[in-house]
Amino acid sequence: MKYPKWIIAVSVSACCTLSWAANRSQQLDSDGSADSYTTESRGEILPEVRVENGKEYLYWPGWNQSKNRKLQVRRERTTHPDAQWWPHAGLGIFMHWGIVSEFEPTGEAWAGRWTPDREKQGEFHPQQEIWDAAKTFNPVNYDPEKWMAGAKRAGFKYAVLTTKHHDGYALWDSDWALMGVRQYLDGRDLVEPFVKACRNNGLKVGFYYSGMDWYFDRDYMNFSFDPNRKMNFKGEWVKTLPKRPSKRWAAYQEYNAHQVKELIHKFDPDIWWGDGGHGMSVEEIRKLRPGIVCNNRDPGSGDHATAEGFGMSDPKFIKPIIENGWWWEVNSIIQKGSWHYDARMGEEIYPSDEVLRKFAEARCMGGNLLANIGPRPDGTYQDQVWRLFDDMELWMKTNEESVFGINGGGPWPEKCNVPITCRDRIWYFHARDHEATEKNPVILKDCAAKPKSMTLLNTGDRIPFSYKNGTLSFFIPEKRKARNITDVVKVEFGSDFDPEPFLFKHW
Ligand code: GLC
Repeated sequence: MKYPKWIIAVSVSACCTLSWAANRSQQLDSDGSADSYTTESRGEILPEVRVENGKEYLYWPGWNQSKNRKLQVRRERTTHPDAQWWPHAGLGIFMHWGIVSEFEPTGEAWAGRWTPDREKQGEFHPQQEIWDAAKTFNPVNYDPEKWMAGAKRAGFKYAVLTTKHHDGYALWDSDWALMGVRQYLDGRDLVEPFVKACRNNGLKVGFYYSGMDWYFDRDYMNFSFDPNRKMNFKGEWVKTLPKRPSKRWAAYQEYNAHQVKELIHKFDPDIWWGDGGHGMSVEEIRKLRPGIVCNNRDPGSGDHATAEGFGMSDPKFIKPIIENGWWWEVNSIIQKGSWHYDARMGEEIYPSDEVLRKFAEARCMGGNLLANIGPRPDGTYQDQVWRLFDDMELWMKTNEESVFGINGGGPWPEKCNVPITCRDRIWYFHARDHEATEKNPVILKDCAAKPKSMTLLNTGDRIPFSYKNGTLSFFIPEKRKARNITDVVKVEFGSDFDPEPFLFKHW
């Protein structure tokens, strides 16, 4: 491993407690990721390496414990044959949807808490106000068949829906939830039609499930970010909060476990996407559904890492994951605002070529993209989601071979200025509008052989290239550029090229 090893002599747990205390005030960043670490000006940021049970775990100084955990996998990943589709699927759509979408002032479950700054300025919303949104949340136009048919033609292979977010509202007709569609929508199950729609359209079914349930825990929880003050769920500053009874934790676990069992028995999901705990141990979840894929958001468990936000899927954070042989996925919002629908922030979805580029970057490093949108509270997608789907559909028609069915990734960013995906001796270069131009050509250094041919996938045109002293360079003629979707150039090497060093070893 290339990193200097500062094996931490002090006890790991003491160290974690300290770093958590130092960072607890920065819970969420503007891109929705917890406390993202993008300070490039500080130069190269080296991870600390800790060796535990013979494995190297990398910790990023400046990140809190919870964020570091999102890049760690602490168990051998599933070898079940039914789960092996996952790294090949590559592209998932994430949907944060529920009463928070209905809560007009802000599209985030952390709304009441959101940032310490907002709290300081008195700009927070008592948690109770978010729960009150359950009284009006009524998705009259909800038609997940339409959602999933759109997602399918855009190339998505799986979908993950928030069955229960931190607010505790259950989207399925639960016998066990304290609040949800049973209490507020006459038991209208919103998960069931989603599952059906996924299956009808050939998408794998993913459940996001928050092990943290603020409604269950409301009486005992401090809703303030300031550890020296206490706020109850009504938004009142209080001297003390009721002490959690000693049996409370066991009751919490039991309550979650009933819900997990219920969801798995009723719907047989392919993916368990826990957040703040899975609600049950991975072992127990696997007893219920052996071929399920679980993320790593439960201390000590999971099949894949979950980089949160594009800041965290930077190669410097991801390469160590791959070197450890782990599967990984970046989940990021691709809409302005936050995870849920945010009326105040508008309905802007990221440019299509930006989403496709981020997708290519993830594939180049053997990861998946789980792209998050927050549907409207009435159950429809924002117009721009359809724009994105249309563009992606168009892109997939000619370019999908560059992201699915691949088995390796090129040396980006060390040797090439654009991400590369590979299938043996066929390499795919992914460029945005301002890239692969005459002024800003694609350059690949230390390229071991001269390509046999080069084609622009979108049009089938041959692309001229130069190959001198091991450096390959080319650009796409202006009039051939795709503009609002990314350009993919397919490069074929001959038998004098050894693809082996670039094949994924972690799949
Ligand atoms: C963070 C947020 C949570 C969101 C999740 C998605 O943990 O707290 O609201 O669901 O990211 O990764």
